[in-house]
Amino acid sequence: MTPSAGPRLRIRPSLGLAALAMIAALTLAPAPAPAAAAAESAGPPAPVSLRCEYLVNPMGIDMPKPRFFWVNGHTERGQVQSAYQIVVSTDPQADAGDIWDSGKIASPRSAQIAFAGKTLESGISYFWKVRAWDRDGRESAWSAIARFDTGLLAKSDWKGAWIGRKNQLRKEFSLKGRVKRARAYIAGLGYYELRVNGRKAGNHVLDPAWTTYDKRVLYATYDVTPFVREGANAVAVTLGNGWYKSRALLLQLNVELEDGSAVNVVSDASWKAADGPIFADSIYDGESYDARRETPGWDRPGFDDKDWPAAEAIDGPKGVLSAQLMPAIQVVDTVVPLKMTSPLPGVYVFDMGQNFSGWARLRAEGPRGTDVRLRFSELLYENGALNQETLRSAQAEDHYILKGAGEEIWEPRFTYHGFRYVEVTGFPGTPRLDSIRGRVVHSAVDPIGSFAASKDVLNGLQRIITWGQKTNLHGIPTDCDQRDERMGWMGDAQGTAEEAIMNFDMAAFYTNFVRDIRDVQDEKGRITDTVPHIWGSRPADPAWGTAYPLICWYMYQYYGDTRVLEEHYDGLKKYVEFLKGTAENGVLKWSHYGDWVAIEKCPGAIVSSFYYYYDVKVLADAARVVGKTADAALYDKLAAEIRTAFNREFYDPKTGDYADGTQTANTLALFLELPTEKQGGAWGRLFDNIVYKHNSHLTTGIIGTKYIMELLTRNGSSDLAYDIAVKTDYPSWGYMIANGATTLWELWQRREGPSMNSHNHPMFGSVGSWLYKALAGINLAPGTTGFEKVLIAPQMVRDLTHASGSTMTVRGEVACAWSRTERSIRVEVTVPFGSEAEVVIPKLGIRDIKVSEGGQKIWEADRFVVGAAGIGGAVDKDGAIRITTGGGRYVFVLEGN
Ligand code: BGC
Repeated sequence: MTPSAGPRLRIRPSLGLAALAMIAALTLAPAPAPAAAAAESAGPPAPVSLRCEYLVNPMGIDMPKPRFFWVNGHTERGQVQSAYQIVVSTDPQADAGDIWDSGKIASPRSAQIAFAGKTLESGISYFWKVRAWDRDGRESAWSAIARFDTGLLAKSDWKGAWIGRKNQLRKEFSLKGRVKRARAYIAGLGYYELRVNGRKAGNHVLDPAWTTYDKRVLYATYDVTPFVREGANAVAVTLGNGWYKSRALLLQLNVELEDGSAVNVVSDASWKAADGPIFADSIYDGESYDARRETPGWDRPGFDDKDWPAAEAIDGPKGVLSAQLMPAIQVVDTVVPLKMTSPLPGVYVFDMGQNFSGWARLRAEGPRGTDVRLRFSELLYENGALNQETLRSAQAEDHYILKGAGEEIWEPRFTYHGFRYVEVTGFPGTPRLDSIRGRVVHSAVDPIGSFAASKDVLNGLQRIITWGQKTNLHGIPTDCDQRDERMGWMGDAQGTAEEAIMNFDMAAFYTNFVRDIRDVQDEKGRITDTVPHIWGSRPADPAWGTAYPLICWYMYQYYGDTRVLEEHYDGLKKYVEFLKGTAENGVLKWSHYGDWVAIEKCPGAIVSSFYYYYDVKVLADAARVVGKTADAALYDKLAAEIRTAFNREFYDPKTGDYADGTQTANTLALFLELPTEKQGGAWGRLFDNIVYKHNSHLTTGIIGTKYIMELLTRNGSSDLAYDIAVKTDYPSWGYMIANGATTLWELWQRREGPSMNSHNHPMFGSVGSWLYKALAGINLAPGTTGFEKVLIAPQMVRDLTHASGSTMTVRGEVACAWSRTERSIRVEVTVPFGSEAEVVIPKLGIRDIKVSEGGQKIWEADRFVVGAAGIGGAVDKDGAIRITTGGGRYVFVLEGN
């Protein structure tokens, strides 16, 4: 068995019709006769997409019981896993699990399976594989081998010392034998680039992710086996300021030689240090690089460093060292500029055609000492010159000073910008279009979702949402990527979380982020508006602090992650108890931001009280999940009290409104079903406000916007939600697109001046989850987790003739693509292996309905027709034919008169 890089989680292209028909035909074919033994003995396909702690072959696992995940490759409908077996071994060749053999475990689960073998040790490569049995007891082949490497598990495993201040650090060492295995563990603050024998280790940039350094410092683990060799070696690290705003390195290179001996190279005062060509670096202001100061060969053995002083021992950060177990920030894409213009002599402006986070790669040739200046902006003035006003105080300016050695190619390491336009001045000669390339840089979470529809503005919306979302993932979810902020504002983070989960594989990223939140919590239970905490207050506005319970809860709902609730239960309880301590008669009267950037702003108290209720309810539910039944009862009771207080405080029986009757005020009350029979007016008031007062436009800020679309759909007004979604005049998402947005704006208003008006601010993208849930119809079935039960309920509204969406869940792909003509509706559905689905096909006034699946009749004369594989039944209820299925791919066609 040789370790193989497990397949990355990717959306499979949807099968064409013909293929689907073939699968249907195959599943319908009679069971093979005993003679057809080949197919039968082959058994179900082996499990695929093996992951450990949500990651493919992770390096640096540092928890005692990492969790395993796989996807069953079965294509047979309605199949379920009846059992599995996992083996974990230190020997990739061995078939038995010397570390863990789970034995055959009767269970349908293929996600969140915790390791339960021997104690894991530091710095070891573990290999694992899994096989599964299906419902009929057929055994699959073993999966391909996956692996995980443990990090340095105990503080005492770290033998080195923190060194730093200068930005280039190097060390040579010699190995007296052939190398069997080598691992580098590195915590390099603010940012580092690690090179071994002249080559960069790994593909991380702007690493490690930003944390509260006095609480937790992330280290990365690299397999550098191919980099080190017998004889002379050099390890070299460049450091940048990053968010740490200083330079500090802790490194350990553990080498095992073939003769069984081990060599540890660690950071200490025996290293040499000097300041290299980077003479300024700041996240906001840019990087300056003088190529004349390069010292070629400094990252290789044999370099003469006798003039370099010894590295300085420094006090490192106080935080515990913790493995970075999430996708690192990487250069994810390279963008070719659309065009170059020259608004003034010697000033060249490149249009990348897309607003994104990253930097520019420069290609230039010219005299030594030429200072090429690159400046970045989201906007241009009418005369074509760069408009940097939205960056506020961020300088966003890089310099490259040529060494004068033919063609020179350079890109910065320790800064990033949010931009669409690059201005080049000081260029030797006239640049060409290929003098500049855009480098798209963000946390490299896998894109796992897709959404498309027959209405163009919705496709545009999906595009600006996903560009905005991914370019605001920089180790933490940021508010914006360009101006002097880029903070982990928690209100923005909680509002976009569901959208992000549908579009990207956020599991490992959020696992880290909720730890980041815990890191800022104080003994009173208070958390902060931004995490790590730089801007904003402690305590956080309740609509911001709610990111802690809500993101934990979304992880439980979407990924079936119970561990996150166990791990954070105490923190969540402390947080809720803090809120409770500030409540007055069951409501929270304090608020910092309320429904932020609303057009019609409601009182902050109703927003805070809504989240107080929400958080208490989530805590009660979390208590049930982790088995704290007494707490569950306690918080259920508290929730009921808050509900009464909320209605007493905010409902106005004279108007029928909550608070001031703004869209957000009524939406919040209705979204959590706070009204009792006595507060019956709010729904009608909300509907009238949207339709008659605002001609189907929103006046909500980020809080109301998160809930209003889903509320409308839940209450049977998907048509209205759609009307809002496809508007192109102010205020609407379409208005942003019509005005050239390539990422979401911070404000509904079009502003381009020096005030707060970022043009890449993902928070209004919360509507992204509504696109999936309502229009593509992809939902968790109520009360279920991890997509074990899927509710496919597409809203076929107004002039929309088709929509499709798919997302990769922990159990496999969920997809729905529907289209319709006057008298027929076609719905293609993918349900993960082992899951169940209810597929709701609206009748849309069609009569004498017949439904077929893959050509076979399943509904006729108002009755379900038994027989199609994987389909459990169908009923006609609430204006729709509701079909129950098991896992598999299905093509339903509903027709009639
Ligand atoms: C940020 C927002 C954030 C807000 C809080 C702004 O400066 O950019 O996105 O949520 O402050 O009030």
